[in-house]
Amino acid sequence: MDDITGLAALARRYWGKRDTKLILPTNSSLSVTLDQDHLRSTTTSRCDPSFEKDRLWLNGKEEEIKPGGRLAVCIEELRRLRKEVEKKADEPKISDLHLHICSYNNFPTAAGLASSASGFAALVSSVAALYKLPATPSQLSLISRQGSGSACRSLFGGFVAWEMGEKSDGTDSFAVEVAPQDHWPEMHALICVVSDDKKGTSSTSGMQRTVETSALLQHRIKHVVPQRMADIKKAILAKDFDTFAKITMQDSNQFHAVALDTDPPIFYMNDVSRSIIALIVELNRASVAAGGKIKAAYTYDAGPNAVIYAPEGNLKEIINLVVTYFPQADAFKDPFKMFAAGQEEPGKLP
Ligand code: ADP
Ligand code: DP6
Ligand code: CO
Repeated sequence: MDDITGLAALARRYWGKRDTKLILPTNSSLSVTLDQDHLRSTTTSRCDPSFEKDRLWLNGKEEEIKPGGRLAVCIEELRRLRKEVEKKADEPKISDLHLHICSYNNFPTAAGLASSASGFAALVSSVAALYKLPATPSQLSLISRQGSGSACRSLFGGFVAWEMGEKSDGTDSFAVEVAPQDHWPEMHALICVVSDDKKGTSSTSGMQRTVETSALLQHRIKHVVPQRMADIKKAILAKDFDTFAKITMQDSNQFHAVALDTDPPIFYMNDVSRSIIALIVELNRASVAAGGKIKAAYTYDAGPNAVIYAPEGNLKEIINLVVTYFPQADAFKDPFKMFAAGQEEPGKLP
């Protein structure tokens, strides 16, 4: 069964777990799921009596499914739900068969563009569709959370909040839609791939180190996140780009400050990332100084790649600025086409 999930771009960050096994976060967070036309994970799953074990191929290379690992936990949970379907209805017994899952990301994997969010959301949706599970997106969100925390938000399109929950069993820690994508169609996201290298510190190990060593994270959890979470939801509902942009940039900055406050420190941005920040800061300064509004907001995940949010009317100016200051060999004959293009997926299940 095929499933496609779009990329998640962050407005308010998840960085820290209070339970590493169940993947329960130290704070609530909010992301924007981008449409699937350009950047996406495409996942196909199949079960067959001839398959000898569960297997996963990611971008054409087989990945190990460790027993008891996150992937195995997701598959196990989906199987359990399928068994319930088989018990109740006259459905074929496919829960005992092994699964082959094949996934392809048409954007850099493990480079701070939330591939684990898009990837695990697509995987859970694909197997749930194969199993014909009568599950709601929130129920699937609970499962994908156990694959990668950020994936619990990517089951939904548009503006999505992961409410951290309070229970120790995690049953109240899942994502909910704040607003659908068509609520704010003028809002666009421009992805600037600064580097497609795999990051040096994975999100999983980086955030654990932060939880263990950063005093700034404790301040952020208690005194910063709750208010910002309420404010950004309000800004989204009111389509208030000024407030959305300010909170998004502040939160990106604080996340990277928290990474730096980790021992040993983690550097996710590089010099080009910082230059893009300077460009957006200057663009906004000039606009506000001339009596105008904030034109764009930058945000950086756990990696050097920029996501720039902007109302559609400002995109042309921003793209022109980016290609002027960051020219690339032969890439920008048609910058608008170039920015709209993702790579094509190669084949399906091997
Ligand atoms: P990112 O910033 O890209 O989310 P992470 O370090 O959080 O980086 O996660 C990267 C890992 O997520 C990969 O090494 C892989 O294990 C998993 N992953 C990425 N894409 C997929 C996918 N399409 N299907 C299944 N797992 C995926
Ligand atoms: C920086 O969800 O990748 O993207 O739960 O350990 O798999 P695990 O981590 P992951 O962390 C994502 C962190 C982030 C911010 C965010 O998605 O909110
Ligand atoms: Co991730």
